[in-house]
Amino acid sequence: MTAAYPTDIAYPATFQPKLAPAHLAAVCALRGVPAPAVDRPYAFCELGAGTGFTTNLLAAANPFAEFHAVDLNPEHVAAGRELALAGALPNVRHHAMGFAEALDARLPDFDFIALHGVWTWVDDAARRAVVRFLADKLRPGGLVYVSYTARPGMDAVAAVRRLVDEAGLLGHGEPTAARVARVRGFLDRLVAAGPALARRAPALVDYVGTLGRMAEASAIHDFLAPGWSAVHHREVRRAMAAAGCVFAGDADLAMDVPDLALEPDAASLVAAMPDAAAEATKDLLTQRPFRRDVYRRPRPGAAPPPFGGLMWLLRATVDAVAGTALPAGRHGPIPDLLAAMASRLERAPIDAASLLAQPEIARFPPAAAAAQLAALIAAGTAVPAVRPPAVLPAGLPRLSPFNRAALSRPIAPDNARLLASPATGGGVALDQTTGYLLWAVTTAEAGNAAALLAARLAAEGRTLSVGGRTVGDAAGLATLLAPQLDRFAGGDLRRLMRLGVVA
Ligand SMILES: C[S@@+](CC[C@H](N)C(=O)[O-])C[C@H]1O[C@@H](n2cnc3c(N)ncnc32)[C@H](O)[C@@H]1O
Repeated sequence: MTAAYPTDIAYPATFQPKLAPAHLAAVCALRGVPAPAVDRPYAFCELGAGTGFTTNLLAAANPFAEFHAVDLNPEHVAAGRELALAGALPNVRHHAMGFAEALDARLPDFDFIALHGVWTWVDDAARRAVVRFLADKLRPGGLVYVSYTARPGMDAVAAVRRLVDEAGLLGHGEPTAARVARVRGFLDRLVAAGPALARRAPALVDYVGTLGRMAEASAIHDFLAPGWSAVHHREVRRAMAAAGCVFAGDADLAMDVPDLALEPDAASLVAAMPDAAAEATKDLLTQRPFRRDVYRRPRPGAAPPPFGGLMWLLRATVDAVAGTALPAGRHGPIPDLLAAMASRLERAPIDAASLLAQPEIARFPPAAAAAQLAALIAAGTAVPAVRPPAVLPAGLPRLSPFNRAALSRPIAPDNARLLASPATGGGVALDQTTGYLLWAVTTAEAGNAAALLAARLAAEGRTLSVGGRTVGDAAGLATLLAPQLDRFAGGDLRRLMRLGVVA
């Protein structure tokens, strides 16, 4: 019997974009399997939601749907409720309870149930409770997202985790900082003592490096949780079958199109295998450490149209598409075809059949055009449109309460400024400069954005450098910022409006 899941230290807020129902629909679209509609009311539940940031953001991005987050740590749940309140989200509820209790709570049936960073972090009893919850609560046709530490890619790390446990280094019950320091110290000595490990077990050496850099709270939840394990895809598949679910696809989209993700010989090998064996072959060939699977509860019905009958829109700017790292694929990137698709997708959402029938696209071989569209989807450049395009407002652009709250809240540094995008039903990450510019244009009165931003930057002690000169006074900053704000208004702000980040 393992110790209970750690609750003494809160998990840092993270955003997991691949939990978004629109993303799960994209997985199904690439794999040609049905998915629930994502442009009309549905119910979504995240199990082990941590501080609930992902569920909150998805609730803000899909205001017509109903969201629930379940976590046993009351501190996590309090953080989720606080942001839901600050973001004025009427369509989300955060529940402080374990998975077993959630079964008895009066929750609705769900179209989407997601668990990220949970399956291989909790003990067998919790996993069984998850399976019962899925069996009971997932509607026919509904989808499950489940991520896990994957074997064989993490075999070496799993061996070391067992060693750490057997050597008594986990020391459950002791102060967290001491436990993390002791385990890190041991792993550093292990790697130093085995120089050949970098060649023989690169995943292990990478993991030790990552664990050393990770915040203490993440290290506790990610590696030192008593139930930590690594599993083969087939084990998760079997557990999902017990809940009445079948494999639908991989939330890492490129993996759904082996031609795009794998070398040609590997892609042909995988294409010749039955479904479960194909997944195991991919895991063996890529040695990937983590998987994000999507399962569905089958419901009799017609096969979906090609690319799922969804409407698609361009997430990036047209200019950025040319620079998108597109997997080569059998047809290779065709620059003119890509450019034609990108500019059509930028104009307005369009379904795949209509897109492929556009004259400027239909002049290319149909198989090549379909492969390029799949590549754009796999790269996350073309995404499902869940809402009609926003009519650009006549007045000044404004942020929703959630996006304003999210901009002013501390989130983990790697996704520090994440805003909800109601046009795509997901999130958009902003770099710091874009965050400041957006804050200024959505906060200032007309014509006052440069002065407002300059005053804020000066008050925060920030400077800008131009031609070797450092400018830090409000008047000087305003002069420098005015053209930058003009460029933003004519460029990236338009993209953010298209994505519904600004309304
Ligand atoms: C590694 S964290 C992942 C958090 C979040 N999903 C994310 O990826 O950011 C695992 C979460 O599962 C929760 N948890 C663990 N066992 C649970 C159980 N039996 N019932 C409900 N929540 C549980 C923990 O409190 C923690 O927030």
